[in-house]
Amino acid sequence: MVTFDAKIPSKVKNSPAVRGNIVITSALPYANGEIHLGHITSTYLPADILARYLRSTNHKVLYLCGSDDYGTPILVKAEKENKSPEDYVKFWNERDQKDFKKLGISFDIFYKTSSPENIKLSQEFFRILGKRGFIFKKTVSQPYCEHDKKFLPDRYVKGTCPHCNATEQYSDGCEKCGRALEPGEIKNEHCAICGRKPVKKESEHYFLRLSAFSKELRSWLLANENLQEDVKNYVLKWIDEGLKEWDITRDIPWGVPVPGDDKKVFYGWFDNAIGYAATAIKYFGDEGRAKKFWNSAKIYHYIGKDIVYHHYLFMTAIRLITKQFKEPDYIPTRGHLLLQNQKFSKSRGWYISLEDFLNEFPADYLRYYLSSITTYSQQDINFDWKEFQSKINNELVANVGNFVNRTLTFTNSHFDGKIPEPENEKKLGAKSLDRKKEILNRLEMIPALVGEGIESNHHDRSLKKILEFSSACNNYFQSEEPWNNKNNKTCLYVCANACRTLAILLEPFLPFSSEKILGMLNAKKDPWSAAGEFKIKPGHKIRKAEILFNKVEDDAINKRLQKLGGVKELLDIEDFKKLDIRIGKVLSAENVPKSEKLLKLQIDIGNETRQCVAGMAKFYNPQDLVGKDVVVVANLKPVKFMGLESQCMLLAAEKGDKITVLKPDKDVGQGALIR
Ligand code: MF3
Ligand code: ZN
Repeated sequence: MVTFDAKIPSKVKNSPAVRGNIVITSALPYANGEIHLGHITSTYLPADILARYLRSTNHKVLYLCGSDDYGTPILVKAEKENKSPEDYVKFWNERDQKDFKKLGISFDIFYKTSSPENIKLSQEFFRILGKRGFIFKKTVSQPYCEHDKKFLPDRYVKGTCPHCNATEQYSDGCEKCGRALEPGEIKNEHCAICGRKPVKKESEHYFLRLSAFSKELRSWLLANENLQEDVKNYVLKWIDEGLKEWDITRDIPWGVPVPGDDKKVFYGWFDNAIGYAATAIKYFGDEGRAKKFWNSAKIYHYIGKDIVYHHYLFMTAIRLITKQFKEPDYIPTRGHLLLQNQKFSKSRGWYISLEDFLNEFPADYLRYYLSSITTYSQQDINFDWKEFQSKINNELVANVGNFVNRTLTFTNSHFDGKIPEPENEKKLGAKSLDRKKEILNRLEMIPALVGEGIESNHHDRSLKKILEFSSACNNYFQSEEPWNNKNNKTCLYVCANACRTLAILLEPFLPFSSEKILGMLNAKKDPWSAAGEFKIKPGHKIRKAEILFNKVEDDAINKRLQKLGGVKELLDIEDFKKLDIRIGKVLSAENVPKSEKLLKLQIDIGNETRQCVAGMAKFYNPQDLVGKDVVVVANLKPVKFMGLESQCMLLAAEKGDKITVLKPDKDVGQGALIR
């Protein structure tokens, strides 16, 4: 077997002016929440690394992405926040862009599926698919909530699992016992939005006859050697088992309108994958130019393994049938991210928020750690806080950071920041000369080695090569002992150039740190082909050295681990003292119209009367609360529930389905403080 290590390519050839067109995409994030670390791992980071590398090797790269704006979940969430779906997705689109920027994801364009370009293109594709005989109509009967006036897709019908009796399971599968459920199988069906029992309602939908394209999909899969073998194999198995016809329409008011039908929109998975091409049209400002570029380019779609079906079959079939934008060359597919070996779960507190992470650690730490543990396969990847700490400390801080730092610091302190003139080789001792030759040899080889890893999508291996190189540089510096050795000039000249090489090779992985290194070296960012050259000449003046990477302390990691799973960190007494908790008397109470949960209370808190909107209607009759002494938090920012301002919070104790408000043991009067 030929291993990656066995191939020692000759140094990077000087590349021609422009090497070919490339389109790279990352799966479009749903516009309904913060970018998930799992998606960063499987799609955004690897795609960004490739994009940066290919730009550096003179390719014409279009790296595109955008928000996935349509679908029932987004519509429901928007309604919950009392926003129009347009405003709602706009918020997340902008937020995503900010986060991607902080992470250094270098999109050439970040657009959206709810764009005029995508609406037009999706409708056009629908017409072509129809003309070619791939669309048919069929009446389907689906759960419908008469209260919410919505057809309820799988995840919006919940109930009790007929196999294990677990309650509150989605109608398409039970998370408790793991069984997939057929529509209608779940017991005690209810609407996930309002809890009421849905009815069945018939509606005519459009379907894509995917099965009629099985043969073509099969040949495409077999002929494409760039696809991952293991993924290919199970996709072929799906085809053998028979492809399902795809229901591509929905009866909701938020989506791409179906031409000739004023009530229906397309299913999000019809238009979102078309969004890749529509985004290219936006980028070039013209459909013709976009097609010309796209159809002459290598196409890469980066995805996570949960959306293989959509990309390998559904999207590809649409491309192959419509023949407007060519099908993918690569669909790099990576596994799910686990956290301390468990599934991420926001509700259980088993979660890392990107915002939170970036407030504490530099983006390059995340980029480094995730890239180094992610293989080019569908294997799941495990985020482990201790491993994160040790990799940052041992590899970034102690290896790369240390090498760059000692080289620059020494040049500053001993040579006044000027790169020294290397000695004549004849004057170097035999050992020094050998060591120098060895490091020069590595310097010449390393760019091609790293490049090869990135091109073949084994980014983790490339990173390892860079680390090995940096470690060799450290050893060289150490053995040369520039602090008491006369040959220190050669050593520093070589090391400064090695720092520059490192900066160029690290750029796809750690763009922020790469820029810092180049800044301190006072060198510019050369293309990959020049990475192994000695561009830093004797006499070149460098800048002040700054610490490149800081150690991750135990404290920071322990805090993170404690927080997981809702294990709250211990609070300072000062934090507790910030709360104004006091006794109040309920003056009046009434139900909030149209709400099953909320009560509106007026509470005398000693010096004033506050309105409180509390979720108590299921547990208390309003009149039973009037006259009672209760406990409230009086200094929270006001919030609105159903348009009503709540100016304080009523404290209650809760266990299972039992809930009780708290009241003082003796009468102390309203306004009494709780400490
Ligand atoms: N929004 C989808 C998800 O997060 C991915 C869409 S990728 C595209 O699963 F192909 F549809 F664009
Ligand atoms: Zn409902």
